Amino acid sequence: MSPLSIKMSLLLLLLMVTWTTDARIGFKKDLSMDAVFPAPIRRDAGLPEGHLRPLGYQRPADSPAEELDGFPDIRVFYHGYSKQRTPVVFRKALKDEEVFKNWEKDKYLRDTFGKLNITVVTQRPIFHKDEIKRTTQVVKMKRFLSEYEYEDWYISSVIPAEIQQQLSLPTIFNCGVVSRYLQKPEIWMSSGSISSKLHSHHDHNLHCVLFGRRDYVIIRNKYRYNFDFKETYINSGEGYSPIDMENINVYKHKKIKETPWTWATLRQGDCILIPSGYLHYVHAYGRSISYSILFSPTSDTDEDVDEPPCKKGAADTLKPMSEGTFTWSYDGGKTRLTDRQLDADSMRHHLMSLLRDDSQIYFEKFDHFYKDATAGAKDAPPAQQVFDIFKEKIINIQKRDKKRGLNYITRVDIHQLSDDQLMRVANIFNNPNEGKTQKDKSKLKKEELQLNRNV
Ligand SMILES: *[C@@H]1O[C@H](CO)[C@@H](O)[C@H](O)[C@H]1NC(C)=O
Repeated sequence: MSPLSIKMSLLLLLLMVTWTTDARIGFKKDLSMDAVFPAPIRRDAGLPEGHLRPLGYQRPADSPAEELDGFPDIRVFYHGYSKQRTPVVFRKALKDEEVFKNWEKDKYLRDTFGKLNITVVTQRPIFHKDEIKRTTQVVKMKRFLSEYEYEDWYISSVIPAEIQQQLSLPTIFNCGVVSRYLQKPEIWMSSGSISSKLHSHHDHNLHCVLFGRRDYVIIRNKYRYNFDFKETYINSGEGYSPIDMENINVYKHKKIKETPWTWATLRQGDCILIPSGYLHYVHAYGRSISYSILFSPTSDTDEDVDEPPCKKGAADTLKPMSEGTFTWSYDGGKTRLTDRQLDADSMRHHLMSLLRDDSQIYFEKFDHFYKDATAGAKDAPPAQQVFDIFKEKIINIQKRDKKRGLNYITRVDIHQLSDDQLMRVANIFNNPNEGKTQKDKSKLKKEELQLNRNV
């Protein structure tokens, strides 16, 4: 070999080594966390304030959200904030010292959780519509970790049990009525500057930051139509604005500059309560890991706030998040009901938590719950047929439905359901495939026979 070709082969070898050790071509995202928020309002060259700027630049904030040191007593939390629907920040409320240390580096997450499935969102702007398109997919944690520093990928997932075991349940959920109405814990992870839609939940949302920084723009529900608010589905009680909150066209969306807002900045260990219905727009910075715990608003006319009782010291006891009683769990990429063996009592409990502090459950709400709970069971009986079981004993039901043109059951109806009605519905949830008609079953038998013959 000539000296030149030796040099060439060495160079090639070197290139191959660099390519295999770091396959990424591209830049890591900027992890700085020093943005000024709320931003000073200024006018650029004759343009109106905040034109083509993110939400929050169109008018000054009214005030920061209320703030407490850590979590208060459960009664204060319930009567003072969640029931009153008052947003509030709990500074340094998390005591997850181990997690703060262990999760500092991605290597630990990769080694410990790399093989777990997790739900990831990828996003890209649609410029001609000034909207953002987001797509969800289930990937392995290690795949996410190798992409998220470069791509617009973020985790938005119900928390897998293995991860819940390392986190502690926020102590406010250790006892009392809120501990009985936990819906689901969701984890968020992203890199660099990234923001959410302006959106709202039907449930209360306690959001806690493990790493990074999160800025909140918080807006009362009554202003939702200033943002072309869309309900996720009819009667869902929650929704979002399709407007790209990073680039607001103030000529097109004139009411935004008239909308009052409050703000909060969260860092490691801080939590915020975003009450049911409140709109919020969130901007994350740095290497950001945080979680949400959604819990249903309840009506305390029939709920004891201090049940199960909050014994002395309950607020200081750390238990793993996996010991919380959540309605929903994550099963390798699918969200499932935690309780797969419902009975009359647990069925009624699920109805009460679907009802929240409203006075009726609309069919659409039940339909979504039913479809989520029986996902994968294609032959489950139609949701309306199941909902009608609840309506069987309601007096003059046809007249009532017709008069109001609505399809719903009320709080009183739920209290009056018989164990037999509840159990019949519970059985459908437990065995959705049993709902198949005789015809479907015989068809299935034939297919099975066919299959056996082919084998
Ligand atoms: C992860 O998701 C894939 C694809 O959805 C699925 O085939 C696999 O069984 C899941 N793995 C686990 C451990 O649940």
